Amino acid sequence: METITNIKEMQARCLAARSAGQTIAFIPTMGFLHDGHLSLLHEGRKRGDLLVLSIFVNPTQFGQGEDLERYPRDFNRDEMMARECDVDLVFYPDATSIYPNGYATYVTVEGPLTNTLEGACRPTHFRGVTTVVTKLLTIVMPHVALFGRKDFQQLAVIRRMTADLNLPVEIVGMPIIRENDGLAMSSRNVYLSASERQQSLSLIDSLTAAASVVKAGERAASAVVTKTVDRLKSEPDLKVDYVKICNAETLEEVDEIDQKSVMLLAVKIGKTRLIDNGLLMEQA
Ligand code: PAJ
Repeated sequence: METITNIKEMQARCLAARSAGQTIAFIPTMGFLHDGHLSLLHEGRKRGDLLVLSIFVNPTQFGQGEDLERYPRDFNRDEMMARECDVDLVFYPDATSIYPNGYATYVTVEGPLTNTLEGACRPTHFRGVTTVVTKLLTIVMPHVALFGRKDFQQLAVIRRMTADLNLPVEIVGMPIIRENDGLAMSSRNVYLSASERQQSLSLIDSLTAAASVVKAGERAASAVVTKTVDRLKSEPDLKVDYVKICNAETLEEVDEIDQKSVMLLAVKIGKTRLIDNGLLMEQA
C-alpha cells in the first residue's frame, strides 16, 4: 500500500493503471475510518484491480459554526485499517492543494435534490460535496466509486451529478452498517457522551417503530411523521432537525407511503448532529 499526497502524482498513477487495463475502484472518505467505511473498501476490493481510498476532511462541505476544526482525525490508524483492507493507494491531499489560492470553481446540483432535507439545514453542504467529489473523480479516474446509503441524499445527489456531467463512472450504493445496538456508524459518534449515546438509539427505534406502524396498515405519511417526531422529542437532549418521508429516487415528500418510501431523520443530540434513514416497507 502506498500513500500519495500530491495531486499530479496521484493522477499519473491512476492514469497509468487505467492505460494498463486495470479497473479502478474508489472510496472517498473524510477518514477516521469505521466498519461502515470498511464495508465499502471490502466491496471495492472485489470490484477493482486497483483499490483507491481517499482521506480528506473537505472544508467546503462544512458550514459556518459546524465541526470542521474538531472533526476527528487519526491518519495513522486509518492507514493501518486501510492496509488490512488491502487498499492499494491512499490519496491524502491537504486542503491547500485541493483549494489553492485563487480557487474559484464549484459544482452544484440544483433543485429539489439539494434544497430539501440536509440541503435545507446546511445550505452550502452539497455544493462542497459535489465540488470535492468531482475533483476526486477527475484525479482518481475510477471505473467504479462506492458510497454508503447512510448518507442517502448525498448518494442521490452524486448519482444526479455524475449522470448530468456524463462522468464515466459507475456509482454503487452500499447498505448502512450499524453498531450492535442499531446506531448507524459515523465518525461523529465519538462526540457522544454516555447519556447522549443512549439517547441516540431513539433514531433506530423510531425507524423500526415507523416501519411496524406501516406494516400494520398505516399509509398516511403525516401520521407516521407525527408519531416519530413525538417519540424523538421525548429524549431530553434531542432536537429534531427534520423527519420526512420521501420518494427514494426523487427525494420529494410523499403523502401516501408505498414501496419506494424512505424515512429520513436528522437530529441534534447535545452538540452532535446525527442522520439516519430507512425504507418503510419491506422490499418485494
Ligand atoms: P464520510 O462521512 O467519511 O463517509 C465516506 C463514505 O462512507 C460515504 O459514502 C458514506 O455514506 C459512507 N458511510 C459512512 N458511514 C456509513 C455507514 N454506517 N454505513 C455505510 N456507509 C457509511 O461522506 C463523506 O465522508 C463525504 O461527504 C465525502 C463523500 C467523502 C466527500 O467529502
